Amino acid sequence: MHVVMINGSPRVQKYSNTEKIIAAFAKGLSKKGVTCETYAISDRKTWDIIRDAYIKNDEILIALPLYVECVPGLLLEFLETLPQKDKHTRLSFLLQSGFAEGCQLRCGEAFLEKLPEYLGVRYGGCLVKGDNFGIRILGEEKQGQVTKPYQAMGELFAEGDGFFREEAKKFTGPEYFSLPICLMMGLIFKTLGKKMFQKTAASWGCSVPLDEKVWETGRNGY
Ligand SMILES: Cc1cc2nc3c(=O)[nH]c(=O)nc-3n(C[C@H](O)[C@H](O)[C@H](O)COP(=O)(O)O)c2cc1C
Repeated sequence: MHVVMINGSPRVQKYSNTEKIIAAFAKGLSKKGVTCETYAISDRKTWDIIRDAYIKNDEILIALPLYVECVPGLLLEFLETLPQKDKHTRLSFLLQSGFAEGCQLRCGEAFLEKLPEYLGVRYGGCLVKGDNFGIRILGEEKQGQVTKPYQAMGELFAEGDGFFREEAKKFTGPEYFSLPICLMMGLIFKTLGKKMFQKTAASWGCSVPLDEKVWETGRNGY
């Protein structure tokens, strides 16, 4: 098998969480002797090359982040440029997001499930997983740990059943969090999380509190 993997995030490759996930997934494929080529739609100048790879290959995997509960606009634009193909081509998806509960990715998944039919190709399933907000701000070693489960999913995909196997379905994790977990997470976000976001923002040059109402304080030129 040879897989064409397309990063559907608008974020430049260097900072894209999807990119790190693709790298882990590719490791899993390669462990099972499956080759792949990877592309990213964030640079429009490469769209002709990506489309060409889509046309010439029959195993396509689009990995994408959830943006505002659904598919990023730039990816929709790219998809509109794809020609019709036939059922020899299989199109699968890896949908990942920031928030962790599986339920909030289901709208995006439902859209992706319909897409292959519009393009005339076969659907290979959709791997769904949240809890990925922070990948890009972690150090290399931590990134490796966090994305390692995607390597196992690459190995599973290499076995040829797309994302229809039970292991792929279980990969999503909890569909909803219980009330105690929600309350605990709310507390963590308001305390430790807030501190961590502020620290990260400061390391990127932000000198005001993250909840600063710039329209009231008049700072930063507002
Ligand atoms: C504009 C925007 C909208 C987003 N909307 C959602 C959302 O609705 N639900 C969610 O769980 N995560 C959301 N996220 C978080 C991303 O899905 C998450 O950080 C993802 O890992 C980003 O991948 P990328 O860096 O490859 O773009 C959003 C991020 C951005 C920038």
